[in-house]
Amino acid sequence: MKMSSLKSWYSALAVISLTGWCTADLARKPLDRPNILLFLADDMGYGDLESYGHPSQESGPIDQMAREGMKFSRWYSPDVLCSPSRGAMLTGRLPVRVGLYGPARVFEMSTSYGLPKSETTIAEMLKEQGYHTGMVGKWHQGINEFSHNDGNHLPHHHGFDFVGHLLPFTNHWMCDETKTYIDAPDRYYCLLYYNDTIIQQPLSHRNLTQRLVEDATSFIFDHQDDPFFFYFSFPQVHTDMFSSPTFSGSSKRGNWRIWNVYKSLLFC
Ligand SMILES: *[C@@H]1O[C@H](CO)[C@@H](O)[C@H](O)[C@H]1NC(C)=O
Ligand SMILES: *[C@@H]1O[C@H](CO)[C@@H](O)[C@H](O)[C@H]1NC(C)=O
Repeated sequence: MKMSSLKSWYSALAVISLTGWCTADLARKPLDRPNILLFLADDMGYGDLESYGHPSQESGPIDQMAREGMKFSRWYSPDVLCSPSRGAMLTGRLPVRVGLYGPARVFEMSTSYGLPKSETTIAEMLKEQGYHTGMVGKWHQGINEFSHNDGNHLPHHHGFDFVGHLLPFTNHWMCDETKTYIDAPDRYYCLLYYNDTIIQQPLSHRNLTQRLVEDATSFIFDHQDDPFFFYFSFPQVHTDMFSSPTFSGSSKRGNWRIWNVYKSLLFC
């Protein structure tokens, strides 16, 4: 497989639901400002969901949300790589406008720059409109600036009031616990934060998704009477691929073997 064809499916997908979907108080008045829930997954093709036209993918809750909410189908990922496409999505600006261009446009663990604070994010804009803002999952918009632990580029500096379990970098194949890519996770690349604090190193994927879901549901529960914006940024389906015992073997399609893609890149 050539690099160009790999890039063509390296895209990001966002589904936005614009409904007040908490059911705890069905009698409450419709919100004048709709709640916004933004899901983001790397490496997911536009047509990979049943609701976006996949002919044989199982339907799931996300498809139900798409049916009951609103589908935005004209947003294009402005880059093939994580940091610039995410930066553009958060600011509504082309990556080149926010300084995310050229060979160094993906933030590494050690880079001292990040999404510029002079840029206004969707979270900051909604906060001004009285929204509660929160996020979990993958950030990849920078970590530290002047020291190894100042956290100057983390999401609480970009308009997010609540930041739960967070992968400040990315979901990296060097964090593989399954021994598919590497014998043991590399501590350097594999950090799990809660807000601005490292809570696990190397991070474990074992119940990572459950942790994110727990953060998201408690945030939504706490703000069910207020307008809220929540950014749920999945570490997967970006490599490394991992399924916890609860979900292992439950997909009709079996395992997704990204390793075959790497092999063909390395040895072509
Ligand atoms: C997240 O960390 C920042 C920096 O320490 C702090 O100001 C903020 O209050 C924290 N957020 C929450 C929700 O605890
Ligand atoms: C995930 O695992 C950690 C450590 O093993 C545990 O403290 C935590 O409660 C678990 N969280 C969930 C949501 O299962």
